[in-house]
Amino acid sequence: MIVTTAQLFKHAYGKYAVGAYNINNAEQAMGLFKGCISSQAPFIIQISKGARKYTDKRMLEAVIRAADGIFPEAIFAVHLDHGDEETCYDCIDSGFYSSVMIDASHDPFDKNVAITKRVVDRAHAKGISVEAELGMLGGVEEDIKVEDGNACLTDPDEAKKFVELTGTDCLACAIGTSHGAFKFKGKQSLHFDVLQKIKDRLPGFPLVMHGSSSVPKDEVDRINAAGGKIAGSMGVDPNEYLPAAKLGVTKVNIDTDGRLVWTRVHREFFRDKPGEFDFRPPGKIFIEEYAKFIASRNVLLGSSGQLADLKQSLGK
Ligand code: G3H
Ligand code: 13P
Ligand code: ZN
Repeated sequence: MIVTTAQLFKHAYGKYAVGAYNINNAEQAMGLFKGCISSQAPFIIQISKGARKYTDKRMLEAVIRAADGIFPEAIFAVHLDHGDEETCYDCIDSGFYSSVMIDASHDPFDKNVAITKRVVDRAHAKGISVEAELGMLGGVEEDIKVEDGNACLTDPDEAKKFVELTGTDCLACAIGTSHGAFKFKGKQSLHFDVLQKIKDRLPGFPLVMHGSSSVPKDEVDRINAAGGKIAGSMGVDPNEYLPAAKLGVTKVNIDTDGRLVWTRVHREFFRDKPGEFDFRPPGKIFIEEYAKFIASRNVLLGSSGQLADLKQSLGK
């Protein structure tokens, strides 16, 4: 069942974080739904601009609609990840998305406010909620590369002002994470001090943590043992998800970890079966392994086991 992102946030705020997982194809969708059903967790499906372009934006919509029919127990929202203004309007007008993210975080404050406000006005007119971003994560966001030195943490006072000026429904904050598999060079920790200050200024307001993959060492080791060359990777400590959730982080974005599961499964499969050329056997393994991974993340996010209570609170 597709619900609004606002309904998920209302149930989760201050107690747990909803996992927001990016998908690009049917195998990821199957693994995601299976993992969320086995762990009895609500979730958010995220579609990036790149994912919309990978095949065709209508393909993923059709996959999600089909999965909704195959897994009637599932409760989830559909979200545009890192949208520009044009893509936000396309998703708002499509009638399929529960929420959109307008990412103008690379623009100066006033321009970010103006763009975000335009998207909020148009989205709210259609009952769709908006995520905006303030502060800059390091790494790669869609086609924009932010060098580590340019990444800057969200200023708590600016965050309050930004929310008041734009009317955004939730805010992606930079609290030390970055996209991809190489997040920390030194200490591996979120900036809880900054997060606490943002929460103090915006009590009850849902915050979003991008760049939340944990980049499991055993996963990377297996990839490298099967011919991969991923050196120096480091992710978020997944034991910090729940403490962050208690401080208002209600949506935790995870994409890279799913790519690592895919890479490990396929590298190991073709290493061990060099004569194989049917993509379905490794595809089936991937679906099961991704489902297991998703379930394990939902436990760490605290969203695991929340489905029955959420259903009741939604009156379903
Ligand atoms: O933050 C970016 C997401 O991980 C989406 O990645 O643009 O390669 O689909 P993508
Ligand atoms: P990761 O690269 O850590 O998975 O972050 C994903 C993300 O923030 C999607 O918006
Ligand atoms: Zn992101």
